Amino acid sequence: MIKVKVPATTANMGPGFDSIGMALSLYNIVYAEEIERGLEIIIQDGNPHIPKDERNLIYKTIEHFYKVINKPIPGMRIVQQDSIPHTRGLGSSAACIVAGLHIANAMSQSFFSKEELVQMAAQLEGHPDNTTPALLGGMTIGAMNEEDMKYVKVRVPENIHFAVMIPDFTLSTELARSVLPKEVSLKDAVFNASRAGLLAASMITGDVENLSLAMEDCLHEPYRSKLIPHMDEILKTAKIHGAKGAYLSGAGPTLIAVVKNVVAFRREMVEYLAGLENNWQVQMLQVDNE
Ligand code: HSE
Repeated sequence: MIKVKVPATTANMGPGFDSIGMALSLYNIVYAEEIERGLEIIIQDGNPHIPKDERNLIYKTIEHFYKVINKPIPGMRIVQQDSIPHTRGLGSSAACIVAGLHIANAMSQSFFSKEELVQMAAQLEGHPDNTTPALLGGMTIGAMNEEDMKYVKVRVPENIHFAVMIPDFTLSTELARSVLPKEVSLKDAVFNASRAGLLAASMITGDVENLSLAMEDCLHEPYRSKLIPHMDEILKTAKIHGAKGAYLSGAGPTLIAVVKNVVAFRREMVEYLAGLENNWQVQMLQVDNE
C-alpha cells in the first residue's frame, strides 16, 4: 500500500504572482494500491463532489504519467482523505497533481527523480507556485521558460504563524484569472518586482517587520477583490489587529495574515469576521519546511 501526504500551499503571497508559494501545515492523505483491473476510488471525510471515476484529478495525473513513460496503467484502488478545502486558494488541485505523481512514481519503481517530478508538476500546473512547495516544502520562488523551471527553496522561520481565513464560498481559479488585465504599467510592474524581491529576501533573513510592505500587490489583488466581499477591509483589519502582513492566498477566496501573537489575533479576527455576511473560518497554520 502506498501512502502519500501532501500539504496545502499558499501561492503568490502578495506580490509573487505565479512564482512564489509556500507549504502549510494542513494535509491531504492518499492511499493507493494496485488491483487486478479497473479503478476504485474511495473518498473519506471529504467533499462528496470529488469524481470517483476517470475524471478524478489524482487518477488523471497518474494516467498522464503512464502515457509519458509509455506503459499501460495498472488497475488501482485510491483512497482519498482530504483536509485541504477545495477551490479556496489553498492548492487543492496542485495537491492532487502531486499525489498522483508520487503514486505513479512509486507504482513504477521510482521511474523519475524528485527533480524530474518537480519539473513535471510545474508543467502540468502551468505555473510553479503551488506544486513546487507542495513537493519540496518551505517557500519556493520559481521562474519558468519553455524548457524548464529554475527555483530556490527557502526555509521559512517557524515562529511565524499564518492565520488562514477561509470563507464558506468557493472561487474558481479560471474566473479569478479571467478578471486580470492582459497588460500592466511599468509603475505597477516595478511595484511588484520590488516587493517580491523584498519578500523573498525577508523570508530568508527572518525580517518579519518588512512583510507589511513586502506582501503588497497591485497585479492581481485589486482586480480579484471585487469577487470577494469585504476583502480589502478584512486585510486592513488584520493589520490593525497586529498582522505583520496580509494577502490573498492564490486565486482566493482565502485570505492569510502573518501573525506573531496568535491567541489575541485569532480572538479579535473571529469576532470581527462573525459580523460579516459570509461565514469565515480561521485556522492557525505554520509553514511546513519539509
Ligand atoms: N498563481 C495562481 C493565481 C495560483 O494566482 O492564479 C492559483 O492557481
